[in-house]
Amino acid sequence: MPRDNKTSLIQKVAKQAFSTFKDCRSASSGDGSVVTDKLNQLVSIVTSVRAKDLKIIPPKNKPSSGAAAPQSPPVTYMHICETEVFSMGVFLLKAGTSIPLHDHPGMNGMLKVLYGKVNVRCFDKLENSLPVPPHFDPPLAPLQVTTVWRSVLRSVAEYSENSGPCLLTPVRDNLHQIDAVDGPAAFLDILAPPYNPDDGRDCHYYKVLQSVTEPESGAKVDQEQLGEKKEIKNEGWLLEIPQPEDFWCGGEPYPGPVVAI
Ligand SMILES: [Fe+2]
Repeated sequence: MPRDNKTSLIQKVAKQAFSTFKDCRSASSGDGSVVTDKLNQLVSIVTSVRAKDLKIIPPKNKPSSGAAAPQSPPVTYMHICETEVFSMGVFLLKAGTSIPLHDHPGMNGMLKVLYGKVNVRCFDKLENSLPVPPHFDPPLAPLQVTTVWRSVLRSVAEYSENSGPCLLTPVRDNLHQIDAVDGPAAFLDILAPPYNPDDGRDCHYYKVLQSVTEPESGAKVDQEQLGEKKEIKNEGWLLEIPQPEDFWCGGEPYPGPVVAI
């Protein structure tokens, strides 16, 4: 090990992330909640991270044709570290690309923009949904009905390198879609615990459905009379889908300071 008295910022992030999330490793062993003081300290450190701290150089912000070149992954990932407690890496989005709507079952997460700008739309699945989904256009195939989820759109926000992190928990803002805005973008991503299909934490993709009658016309009048129109507008349906064909994630080397946990 080289002698270096100065601990890198990303090493401090990793140490704090481990301390923050070490007691909520498994969604099945608790509610996934974290100690607020520790989380606040992690947010504070993560907020100060910039691309240069990870030796990442933002690409030239040339005008986009709206899509990445064929065969070139629209999104790439730099792996920084992974333990049983958390994973950390950097997602790099080319101009005009998106990470489609997906979930993080039983997981906490933190997304901090390093360069560029992203728009993040956050959803949650609702437990107490209406018993029967409304009619959709086009109609759902019978098998698809079982993979339709009542949902709520929690938030839509833009983040830049000067923004604090976007947070998600097992129960709040757990599903999100991330769009690069006005050029390429990159963000530091911390997930706790990491994805692990063997432990019930696989990544699923979703499509927002437009319903034809939502809710039934009579009920809609009642809802409006009760002044709940806003809530109706934010609620909807999500269809679980395979990974979209126009989205895949390549890998690239992480150029920043080594992180040891
Ligand atoms: Fe995500």
